[in-house]
Amino acid sequence: MKIGLIDIDHHNFPNLVLMKLSAYHKAQGDSVQWYDMFSGHFDRVYIAKVFTFSEDYKYPIDADEVIRGGSGYNIRLIDGSETGTSFRQALYFKDECGLNIHDTMIWAKDGGGAIGSNLSYTQNFEYMFVFSNGKPKTVNLIYDKPSQTYTGKAQHVRECRGGNDKGDRGNVTLTRLEMSRRNNWWYLVPQKEEGSDFHPAVYPLKLAREHIYSWTNESDLVLDPFMGSGTTAVACIKEKRHFIGFELNKEYFDKACKRVDIEQRQLKLF
Ligand SMILES: C[S@@+](CC[C@H](N)C(=O)[O-])C[C@H]1O[C@@H](n2cnc3c(N)ncnc32)[C@H](O)[C@@H]1O
Repeated sequence: MKIGLIDIDHHNFPNLVLMKLSAYHKAQGDSVQWYDMFSGHFDRVYIAKVFTFSEDYKYPIDADEVIRGGSGYNIRLIDGSETGTSFRQALYFKDECGLNIHDTMIWAKDGGGAIGSNLSYTQNFEYMFVFSNGKPKTVNLIYDKPSQTYTGKAQHVRECRGGNDKGDRGNVTLTRLEMSRRNNWWYLVPQKEEGSDFHPAVYPLKLAREHIYSWTNESDLVLDPFMGSGTTAVACIKEKRHFIGFELNKEYFDKACKRVDIEQRQLKLF
């Protein structure tokens, strides 16, 4: 077979899936090459896309079969119907790995969102699944919603929102009289964080801080196996947690470490 590969995000990092597909086909005796439209007809072309915002391959493809894959295609299939990948992954962790789906939240983004199909609404959110091995060890719920139901019982709770992300953690003590528990629809505006603009898919520091605050205690250890620009690490410093991170891309890793160093040095100034 003549196999073609298209890596939509080739400028970001090596695509392990395409590398594995290439090795598989070569072992079968197939010919494998990067797809280009001047190389004639292909039996099969694989296209990998990691980020939803990366533009899809827009030129005609001369092949019997075109297979698209990767998280960049997760939200909607090319024909406009949903793949359900997020649910499948969540159920895999539950059914196959034995974890509890402890909580599910929506991260509603601002901006126009991705258009998956002309027949559906624009995609403007991501799922956030919280898995636990048995009952979660730590739950520090955030109370930041003005209370509708006054119970008369004032219990003190810690509320850690409103920090200015410059070392001031913004902790204040409020009472359940004034604030009630947040719901699971988290409105967090994607924002470019200082020192993170070298990475194309940064999530908001506030989001990382709020999850770390909710599910860990001070001095706990947090692992982020996909560090990217190091947002989780910075959030851990701000929330006084320990951190371990993995990152495939050496350039991102080095820059993330630099971002972490700067954050640590800033903290020492206070
Ligand atoms: C969506 S980004 C994470 C962004 C991060 N949350 C932030 O705010 O900067 C995912 C990162 O995971 C990295 N990655 C992908 N596969 C990986 C793997 N198998 N091991 C380690 N890192 C990986 C990518 O290079 C990319 O930088």
